[in-house]
Amino acid sequence: MGNNIIDGKKVAGILRQQVKEDVQEWVSRGNRPPKLQAILIGNDPASKTYVNAKTRACEEVGIESESVIFPDTMSIKELKEAIGKYNSDDSIDGILLQLPLPGHLHPSQVIETIDHRKDVDGFHPMNVGRLTVGQPTFRSCTPAGILELFRYYSVMTKGKRAVVVGASNIVGSPMAIMLSRENESGKATTTLCHKYTRDLTQHTIQADILVVAVGSPKLITGQMVKEGVVVIDVGINRVADSTAEKGYRLVGDCDFDSVAEKASLITPVPGGVGPMTVAMLMKNTLLAAKRSIYPQD
Ligand code: GUN
Repeated sequence: MGNNIIDGKKVAGILRQQVKEDVQEWVSRGNRPPKLQAILIGNDPASKTYVNAKTRACEEVGIESESVIFPDTMSIKELKEAIGKYNSDDSIDGILLQLPLPGHLHPSQVIETIDHRKDVDGFHPMNVGRLTVGQPTFRSCTPAGILELFRYYSVMTKGKRAVVVGASNIVGSPMAIMLSRENESGKATTTLCHKYTRDLTQHTIQADILVVAVGSPKLITGQMVKEGVVVIDVGINRVADSTAEKGYRLVGDCDFDSVAEKASLITPVPGGVGPMTVAMLMKNTLLAAKRSIYPQD
């Protein structure tokens, strides 16, 4: 790897090791191990892979986990009932509802029914609201993991020009909030670009820090960024490749080679942001277990 490559796999490994030690300490004080309940609806292969990665990580760090797979014909009523059961089950600390959901299940209607104290994804309006006003919360895992990368690689955000491309509830929107907030890893002048943005390059070219989370292969090219930019590529796109074993390969939202030529730091796909999301979920699940015993104010 070039020396401007951010090794998310390595940093995530360090974080998981830390969570593992913290879980051991928590259990040694007489508490039961934290437990994550994962919910997968339908059989989207990528979602299955992600849920497997999450339950595997749980095992590694000493967090118990259970996953349930519901058919994609499930009604919203049935799903809400299942969530209600997990909400009132005291042996469960965190509930992970893997997104996207099948079209007839509206994510916001479902997410609202998750107990915000078990919302380890940080998607519940209560937690998003708390993030927005700077109160303790569960922070959405991917943007929180990106801030950990900044910390590890000593990327300063204060006063910098940060540009986030993609305004999803999962990544772009909470990322922009975190970068712009008045806290340790914020204080950046932050622009949030989305599908209605005119002349994207006019914004990206000015970025000191560029976070791209769109799901559009090679949307960002080297010509769209300035020399020395720090680039975080959140995209995980499957593109057909007959020479690959699985018939596809993974590419990000950036044209890696041309962007890497100008970037001072850049995340690869895979091995950049993905492992950090999983590590932060472990952190949040332990936090949920701790807060269930010692509630915050
Ligand atoms: N789908 C894509 N990213 C995520 C994530 O971080 N959490 C969940 N639950 N679903 C996702």
